[in-house]
Amino acid sequence: MQYDTAFEMASSNIRFGQGTTREIGMDLSELGVKRVMVLTDPHMSELAPVQNVLESLAAEKIEVELFSRVRVEPTDTSLQDAAAFASAGEFDGFVAVGGGSVMDTAKAANLYSSCPPTDFLDYVNAPIGKGLPVPGALKPLFAVPTTAGTGSETTGVVIFDLEEMHAKTGIAHRRLKPTLGIVDPENTRTMPPIIAASTGLDVLTHAVESFTALPFDQRPKPEKPILRPAYQGSNPVSDLWALQAMRIMDENFIRAVENPDDEKARGMMLLAASFAGIGFGNAGVTLPHGMSYPVSGNVKSYHPDGYPGEHPLIPHGMAVVLNAPAAFRFTAPACPEKHLQAAEALGADVSGAGPEDAGEVLAERIQYFMQRLNIPNGLSAVGYSEADVPALVEGTLPQHRVIKLAPREVGREELTEIFKDALKYW
Ligand SMILES: NC(=O)c1ccc[n+]([C@@H]2O[C@H](COP(=O)([O-])OP(=O)(O)OC[C@H]3O[C@@H](n4cnc5c(N)ncnc54)[C@H](O)[C@@H]3O)[C@@H](O)[C@H]2O)c1
Ligand SMILES: [Fe+2]
Repeated sequence: MQYDTAFEMASSNIRFGQGTTREIGMDLSELGVKRVMVLTDPHMSELAPVQNVLESLAAEKIEVELFSRVRVEPTDTSLQDAAAFASAGEFDGFVAVGGGSVMDTAKAANLYSSCPPTDFLDYVNAPIGKGLPVPGALKPLFAVPTTAGTGSETTGVVIFDLEEMHAKTGIAHRRLKPTLGIVDPENTRTMPPIIAASTGLDVLTHAVESFTALPFDQRPKPEKPILRPAYQGSNPVSDLWALQAMRIMDENFIRAVENPDDEKARGMMLLAASFAGIGFGNAGVTLPHGMSYPVSGNVKSYHPDGYPGEHPLIPHGMAVVLNAPAAFRFTAPACPEKHLQAAEALGADVSGAGPEDAGEVLAERIQYFMQRLNIPNGLSAVGYSEADVPALVEGTLPQHRVIKLAPREVGREELTEIFKDALKYW
């Protein structure tokens, strides 16, 4: 096999600033968009960000239909519901106002209504679906994140729960990228602490996973450039974004969760989310994300206190970080320097730590954030026991797009050990 010798930096368009949400009507008007589908979830539909977007569109006399049925942690069924609404509405543009669940649903609604496939799974990542590329340009989509989390405003990725598989999977193509991400610190003010904590831990893992991912030049060389995946492995450009996101988090994460009126910390966290999004969008995520997909999909009855809605769920950031200390202890021997660098950027004292300590130092720093932010103590605290480990392993094995980017190869045996280690941390 020949290794790749190149990496690519795909750009994402974002506009950052207080009050930019109110500019969105003018942006759409300039593009000639006349009829828009605004997507949000039931809880967000009552809050200021959605109202501000609707007012801004009304001011430009843009016709709007509000779709507020987005499911938090979308499923194939909920995506198809949004896509059917989009097809029936004959819109010429889309606006997503919410967290990753809303932004991802909007990308899917745009894709499935603009370029309807023969079968729903045609666009879904292989080997679960056919992984077909998006055949043509989609309609303009503006993404307005209201969590400092997924970075979905910067990525061409849709993540959803494939119900029959009890695990998440995705659709990934650069044409799914939003036309513009409107990153307005005003919009995250109303996040309750449990949402600020779990979405922020998603940012943390995006940054650390992409920074410690298999380097781009240890992945197979594609036959033609179009086949080079967006998740191409760590590289010097994505490293910059990831490291800076970690440094910002060290200074601002706890402050922003504990005091939502801390304007500076809240704004910096939103910036860190986009930075980490640009980083992982050009490098990929690895084991903690791959392992999170069956952790979310097999949820039994867990629902975090203070979280909107009633259906059992393990919020994405929580499902990911619960695997992170165990996963990084496993991957550290492959590139100990990078694990130590990540720990240091997140504020750990690494003086005197040698390569053999790297996994432990990073794991402990992540556990510090988890404990400080009242995250459950391992997978056992969200309803899993050792008896569930085989199912969690089987759900992780097909997540090739991410687990193959781990810097150390994993199979059934290794994943079993990592999941066992993730059951309880302190
Ligand atoms: N596309 C990508 O690149 C990508 C990356 C990571 C995760 N994801 C996906 O994104 C989803 C998670 O998104 P998320 O973590 O942003 O959360 P979310 O969109 O699921 O929202 C979580 C909860 O927070 C509430 N909420 C959001 N903003 C709020 C605000 N400002 N004030 C009060 N409440 C608010 C929502 O109503 C919801 O109940 C998952 O499905 C995950 O798999 C996608
Ligand atoms: Fe994530």
